[in-house]
Amino acid sequence: MLERIKQLTEEISTLRAGNPEEAELLRLKYLSKKGLVSVLFDEFRNVPAGQKKEIGRLLNQLKNATQDKIESLKAGFEGGKEATGPGADLSRPASHVKPGTRHPLSIVRNEITRIFGQLGYTVAEGPEIEDDWHNFSALNFPPEHPARDMQDTFFIEKNPDILLRTHTSSVQIRTMETEKPPIRKIFPGRVFRNEAISARAHCIFHQVEGLYVDKNVSFMDLKQTLLYFAREMFGESTRIRLRPSFFPFTEPSGELDISCNICGGKGCNICKYTGWVEILGCGMVDPAVLDNCRIDSKIYTGFAFGMGIERITLLKYQVRDLRLFFENDLRFLKQFTGTI
Ligand code: DAH
Repeated sequence: MLERIKQLTEEISTLRAGNPEEAELLRLKYLSKKGLVSVLFDEFRNVPAGQKKEIGRLLNQLKNATQDKIESLKAGFEGGKEATGPGADLSRPASHVKPGTRHPLSIVRNEITRIFGQLGYTVAEGPEIEDDWHNFSALNFPPEHPARDMQDTFFIEKNPDILLRTHTSSVQIRTMETEKPPIRKIFPGRVFRNEAISARAHCIFHQVEGLYVDKNVSFMDLKQTLLYFAREMFGESTRIRLRPSFFPFTEPSGELDISCNICGGKGCNICKYTGWVEILGCGMVDPAVLDNCRIDSKIYTGFAFGMGIERITLLKYQVRDLRLFFENDLRFLKQFTGTI
């Protein structure tokens, strides 16, 4: 009996487990009803009375050591908890840590930030809960403009002057109100619109707004900046075209198309066989908007642009349904392994 206790005590101290299942098998081997340690307790009955005290002590010691050892082996597999105490096996290989992946919208937002960073743009943010002035009035929206309509904008019920911003253009205003030109910034953020959720629309989405205000900023600067962006984002052979458009806060305004990054402009179902896909709105900052922010429009000019991050991501990664960005299905998210 003494011999077996000694032998088991030694054996227990060298136990190793590569994973929680192995540790559980060890527990069963030693501590279950018919386990090697438990069986000794059964045999304790036959120990001569004179040895009972000594052997009983050693047996209890063995049982405690076995329990401690197996517990510490198991603890080592529980995230965060360290196997500590006398039974800790410090030579055990570390458990495997599975790194997460970045969300595709973050990958693309970071890429946009990087590209404009190369042109000297810095990043600023503004509040998601806005007032009418920053989201609409200062941006030259007339009082009866349809974008203010309840259908598009989430207003705060008790105070219709407060709303969830419908675009990141509001941060343009906040920046121009507090800073003097030259201003060269981008404003990424979340925006909200009261729209039915579908494969192509969501009531919450993300935009990046850009603003450059200085002396002598021209439409040519805008065009060249956007060409640079398009080529960095979608590849060197990307071509751009600007179509005239209207936004209350820019004059003239345009929408930027890029040559379809899927078919290279030959025509496919992504570009609806036109060879072009729209990626953003832009224009020269309306002088009235500069004046609203107390920037002298006789001295300064500027351009602005705004793009949807979801849209850029859909095109870049050929994702067919915008809802996938919000469902957090790991099978979807794991396909994006960008490190930026
Ligand atoms: N704010 C516009 C939107 O949400 C996007 C936009 C268009 C921003 C033109 C601009 C711009 O800065 O010049 O649809």
